[in-house]
Amino acid sequence: MSEQKPLGSVIQGSLSEGIEVRLHPDISVEEMRVGKFLVVQGVRSRFFCLLTDVSLGTSSPRILANPPQAEDSFMRDVLAGSGTYGTISLSPMLMFTPTSEEEFTPAKAPITNTSLASFSPQSSAEMELLPVKTIPAHFSQVYEASEQDFRMVFGWEDDPTRRNFAIGQPLDMDVPICLNLDRFVERSNGVFGKSGTGKSFLTRLLISGIIRKQAAVNLMFDMHSEYGWEAMQEGKNVSTVKGLRQLFPGQVEIYTLDTESTKRRGVRDAQELYLSYDQIEIEDIRLIGRELGISEASLDNANILYAEYGRFWITQLLSMTNEDIKIFCQEKQGHPGSIMSLQRKLMRLEGLKYLKAVCPHNYIDQVVQSLDAGKHVVVEFGSQSNMLSYMLATNMITRRIHANYVKRSEHFLQTKNPSDRPRQLVITIEEAHRFLDSGIVSQTIFGTIAREMRKYFVTLLIVDQRPSGIDNEVMSQVGTRITCLLNDDKDIDAIFTGVSGAGGLRAVLSKLDSKQQALVLGHAVPMPVVVRTRPYDQTFYAEVGETDWTQMSDEDVFSAAEMAKADLGF
Ligand SMILES: Nc1ncnc2c1ncn2[C@@H]1O[C@H](COP(=O)(O)OP(=O)(O)OP(=O)(O)O)[C@@H](O)[C@H]1O
Ligand SMILES: [Mg+2]
Repeated sequence: MSEQKPLGSVIQGSLSEGIEVRLHPDISVEEMRVGKFLVVQGVRSRFFCLLTDVSLGTSSPRILANPPQAEDSFMRDVLAGSGTYGTISLSPMLMFTPTSEEEFTPAKAPITNTSLASFSPQSSAEMELLPVKTIPAHFSQVYEASEQDFRMVFGWEDDPTRRNFAIGQPLDMDVPICLNLDRFVERSNGVFGKSGTGKSFLTRLLISGIIRKQAAVNLMFDMHSEYGWEAMQEGKNVSTVKGLRQLFPGQVEIYTLDTESTKRRGVRDAQELYLSYDQIEIEDIRLIGRELGISEASLDNANILYAEYGRFWITQLLSMTNEDIKIFCQEKQGHPGSIMSLQRKLMRLEGLKYLKAVCPHNYIDQVVQSLDAGKHVVVEFGSQSNMLSYMLATNMITRRIHANYVKRSEHFLQTKNPSDRPRQLVITIEEAHRFLDSGIVSQTIFGTIAREMRKYFVTLLIVDQRPSGIDNEVMSQVGTRITCLLNDDKDIDAIFTGVSGAGGLRAVLSKLDSKQQALVLGHAVPMPVVVRTRPYDQTFYAEVGETDWTQMSDEDVFSAAEMAKADLGF
């Protein structure tokens, strides 16, 4: 590899505030974009940095008072580099200090950029990148990051020692930036960004990676029916992208709460899912209490009903006349007004298609069995995607699945037998701030999961456009944050909850493109980085998808063949 040209020299800075670099005269500030990944070659160590700001400087106020004429390019050239110059601010994130004798002898030969660029790590375990504890010395040279640097920091997709998944590329190079999926799934994570920035596409990418690399099983609550089967893609022409069941036919199962809508969309063999009143507990009602306008007093009275009728409390309540309620309240010391209001509010549940009075088959158990068998489950809502319906079903299903996981994790803890270890589970929820806002987070199962982290092998993938609505404590537990453009200051603040030295990153986040760009930071990447998101398209399907014909039904084989024909333009 040829020796790279330095871009500038470090002139001042501090560990806490970042370092300032003066650009060399022949380097234009216009080439320096916020979010760029640069390296500084210090005397002993190599520093990996993120560009957080760009500015112009002059050596004398006289130049500013008397700037060259517009047509005087000669004067501008004369001033460039001496009288006028560009500076960039860098946030150092990681450092690498070679230790072995042959690689590095500080007194004799400070390492050059070339010697490190040609250093080719055999496995990621060999290199030790440490968080920055110091900064490069005065006048250290700054370079564009090379492909090797990227590999060194972000790994590579086919590294046999890790489950890495390429989520995109840096702003100005064609090298993959990988997430370490094992680290990713062991904590709860978030995909954030305002509407239309690519959250759903990113989510589909991430889940495809998790499925492909078998890092966890997934349960996705697919509010807008866009993960399981085909989804619309914005653009000049109306086009669609493939859903996960189409990419991984043998491994993904679709359950639907609205069979007709799912059939209308042409999804074959989706399984129906019904829930029943006797599965609804007071906690479930508490979560949707706000949607339904149920008061605390009514919830207290719900407890009295529950104590009397057990799991049939809702069916009983809905069948009671006002007279029945009055008699009940006299006997059990309830408040008739509150119970009548509760009854009125709960009548809205009768409008939910998937709720039955009683249901002989336990569909939630069926979902649990699918997950146990290593299948990934997408729950579609169809016409039942309003907030009330989404929150109720999501909460009911998750609570039971979580209880099952707690039981199994405890069993595993006791036996320590690897075959008893529950499979890591990732639950994807949308509009997450509705479940995780400070007012209700302490009462919902999602708050519990987010806070207890990996203890029970269940984590969340939160998809949301309003991170400021999410409780601070939950936000600080979010391991990896993948954030597309956000404009609102409060939302930007929320992203950096619990992140130290976030000052420079704020600027990076607010300057992202409005589509297909994201700032990735946290547990699954060694340092914050801006990516151009990997395109979710035919090339991606081919790279990641699988067509396991042996596991497909005849109908699937038929539809896959039809799709293949369409792809080839027949
Ligand atoms: N990785 C990608 N590959 C291909 N196209 C993408 C990608 N990311 C974003 N896009 C484009 O951006 C559009 C919007 O993306 P997406 O639907 O994911 O936004 P969103 O953030 O989920 O919006 P909303 O909040 O409204 O649901 C897509 O229709 C697609 O055209
Ligand atoms: Mg979306």
